[in-house]
Amino acid sequence: MKTSTEFVAWFRSAAPYIRTFRGQTFVIAFDGDVIEEGNFTDLTHDINLLVSVGVKVVLVHGARPQIERSLKSKKLKSNFSNHQVRVTDEETLTCVKEANGRLRLEIEALLSMGLPNTPLAGSPIRVTSGNFVIAQPKGIINGVDMLYSGDVRKIRHEAIFQRLESGEMVLVSPLGYSATGEIFNLTHEDVATEVAIAIKANKLIYLCDQSGINDKQNNLLNELTTSEVKSLAKKRNKMPSIDRLWKGLIKASESGVDRLHLIDRKINGGILLELFTHEGIGTMISRDSLQAIRTATQDDIGGILSLIEPLEQNGVLVRRPRETLETEIQKFTVVEHDGLIVGCVALNPFKREKIGELACLAVHPDFQSTGVGERLLKVVEANCSKQKLIDVFVLTTQSSHWFLENGFKKTVLSELPKEKAKLYNYQRNSKIYSKPII
Ligand SMILES: CC(C)(COP(=O)(O)OP(=O)(O)OC[C@H]1O[C@@H](n2cnc3c(N)ncnc32)[C@H](O)[C@@H]1OP(=O)(O)O)[C@@H](O)C(=O)NCCC(=O)NCCS
Repeated sequence: MKTSTEFVAWFRSAAPYIRTFRGQTFVIAFDGDVIEEGNFTDLTHDINLLVSVGVKVVLVHGARPQIERSLKSKKLKSNFSNHQVRVTDEETLTCVKEANGRLRLEIEALLSMGLPNTPLAGSPIRVTSGNFVIAQPKGIINGVDMLYSGDVRKIRHEAIFQRLESGEMVLVSPLGYSATGEIFNLTHEDVATEVAIAIKANKLIYLCDQSGINDKQNNLLNELTTSEVKSLAKKRNKMPSIDRLWKGLIKASESGVDRLHLIDRKINGGILLELFTHEGIGTMISRDSLQAIRTATQDDIGGILSLIEPLEQNGVLVRRPRETLETEIQKFTVVEHDGLIVGCVALNPFKREKIGELACLAVHPDFQSTGVGERLLKVVEANCSKQKLIDVFVLTTQSSHWFLENGFKKTVLSELPKEKAKLYNYQRNSKIYSKPII
């Protein structure tokens, strides 16, 4: 970060996320490559930061590269069914147990570091693991006995809750125990999905080997709804591992997990960039569209103030103290994007003159030129129509052309309601535009 101003701006922009995430539960899933490639130390810093701001974290790890290495060292071959699921015989299961056991210890050790001069200083993470996953055998699929390859039968969610409530982070391996005491080999994608559903997680975050989901031109799609992911999945002929991941994402989303994120595991600080910035760096999936337009409530005052204050300081908008906002909040319409207020407008009706004033129109810089302004204007026009107003006017210093392009025409002070004309600020010298309501 180059200047203190940039730092302050960045820190302020992260504040609403910190507020929202406090007390939420995130499941973070990653394959064994993260450890293999040495990226886990950076990841522990980011996880530690999440825990410090009050997020309850469950980690689900995979162990594919470690299992492959263990099989190789014993000169055993990987055996996959025609669905690309590993067939786990007894010898393979020994390698699976060894690889997972060693990996779990390594992860626990890395999470227990308390390095000075890092975000871990003074706050070692308390991590716990256990028999949280009950499994059952996959059985015979298309004539192939999958032996010790299993499916998740149940997640012992109360046990996970207890650990999280006592301030611990929970680490889950892709192994499950059956009621008969056997161990089954599971995929970490399945385990992460089922854990997120069972504990009603707010987010399921996958660190994967791609930047997220791309369009046909290979551009990253930052936000998708579940139904968009479903229709993309139908069109695309995917690798089995990606197919498994996408199925898990869709299932988790449809079962109530609010947000799913795909993040490139190789980006240092990827989780922070995805979660604490508007634009993100991966793909975020949600059931419904993230943007909603609605009448403002008292709870939106903080969000509206942080949107309009920079514009008031630049003189673009007239200053509105918090008290005025509190008494006039019912006049405001807001656009909310993933819990943040990114656009607002107010309508002041002059009932006797049958004319309305559009005021305090503002769109967050990150969301400008995406049609938010136009949507807000349409709502104002619809509200004028409901209130039987025949014209809407606006006073503006810097957005004349935007209003002209949206059907407004220049008008004069004498056309305004007397009450409003009396208050005209000659120093601001705003231009006046109006538009008939049809
Ligand atoms: C004016 C404002 C509300 C427009 O919101 P928006 O969501 O970006 O608008 P839309 O997406 O509907 O329209 C975007 C188009 O308007 C143009 N535009 C945006 N602000 C403009 C301005 N001040 N003057 C002229 N054109 C403008 C954009 O270039 C874009 O054109 P393009 O599609 O050809 O690229 C927004 O720029 C803003 O908040 N400005 C600061 C506050 C302000 O001036 N409010 C009005 C005071 S009453």
